[in-house]
Amino acid sequence: MPTPAVAKASNASFSPSYLPVAIFAGGTSGVGQGMVEAFARYVQGRAHIIIIGRNEHAAADILARLPKPPGGEADGWKHEFVACDTTLMANVRTACADIRAKCARINFLILTAGYSSMVNIAVTSEGLDLHLAMRYYQRFVWIQELLPLIQAAQGRSEDAKVMSVLGAGLGSPKRPIDLENLGNTVKPRNGRFSVAMRSMIMSSGYTDAMLAHFATQNPDIAFTHIHPGIVNTNALRSTADFDGLLTPLSWILNFILPFFAVSQDECAEHMLYALFTGERGLFIRDRYGNAVSELAFEAPVELSENSDTSHGY
Ligand SMILES: NC(=O)c1ccc[n+]([C@@H]2O[C@H](COP(=O)([O-])OP(=O)(O)OC[C@H]3O[C@@H](n4cnc5c(N)ncnc54)[C@H](OP(=O)(O)O)[C@@H]3O)[C@@H](O)[C@H]2O)c1
Repeated sequence: MPTPAVAKASNASFSPSYLPVAIFAGGTSGVGQGMVEAFARYVQGRAHIIIIGRNEHAAADILARLPKPPGGEADGWKHEFVACDTTLMANVRTACADIRAKCARINFLILTAGYSSMVNIAVTSEGLDLHLAMRYYQRFVWIQELLPLIQAAQGRSEDAKVMSVLGAGLGSPKRPIDLENLGNTVKPRNGRFSVAMRSMIMSSGYTDAMLAHFATQNPDIAFTHIHPGIVNTNALRSTADFDGLLTPLSWILNFILPFFAVSQDECAEHMLYALFTGERGLFIRDRYGNAVSELAFEAPVELSENSDTSHGY
């Protein structure tokens, strides 16, 4: 298990010979923010960094504090924000079109934007379960829409890596995917807590399976699903947002959980350690960056006739 010091020392050796392009969907707070800041520090700002989220002010603050290399943007580096509410897949597609217009390749696509609530089990205007839209479907759309740019980086023998920070190892095989209730909108949605829990568990297994699918089709790209552990961020607080008679449980959990949590900066070092390790294939990793499971493919795996994944399921 790499200690934070080992992870940091390893990350400090990241020194690409090319100017990296890194996209952080969820870079405006929490683990994503920690990763943006550490990544920029390790490359001394010499990268094209795009952070995505809704909070423009938070983004402006983060971007203003990133190191700026001498020579100005004419040297190719750029730090920018793309606004996107990822609740709707149409918005994600629009943001991807924007990114395709800005970049010819992507070296690192890091997906940390997420959502958790024990009380809100809304269905979006696109007919998707809100938890799954935020935890799974949007991740699928980012990867699917930006894959040609990641392939372009791989074609130049540069890093070509996708990382989803969510709940690696919490879904299948421990909890097999319920094929009778794909998307969690088929079975009755009675009981907010159970529906929310079902979606949150589903999203982990779905993400394992989705990244496995992309890895089988793109053997020279690294696809990582990682669990961040317990991290002291907004997401930790919203995970414990019970209401009604259970409100005191929220108070207790919000008091206790931070004692077990690490900071977003410490978590970010482990996430970057995992990102920089492993060149190609599928990686399921724990919060320290250890590979719990990894698979490499020599050639794209042939899919059967019924393997249409264009809708994300
Ligand atoms: N923290 C933990 O202990 C923990 C544990 C297990 C798993 N996780 C998972 O790890 C990932 C990162 O969590 P975190 O703790 O870093 O969360 P966080 O601090 O709450 O950050 C979430 C990020 O997602 C973005 N986001 C949220 N809703 C969005 C929306 N509708 N549209 C666009 N962006 C949105 C936020 O940006 P804006 O506010 O700018 O929109 C922010 O950048 C999440 O998927 C979370 O579920 C966290």
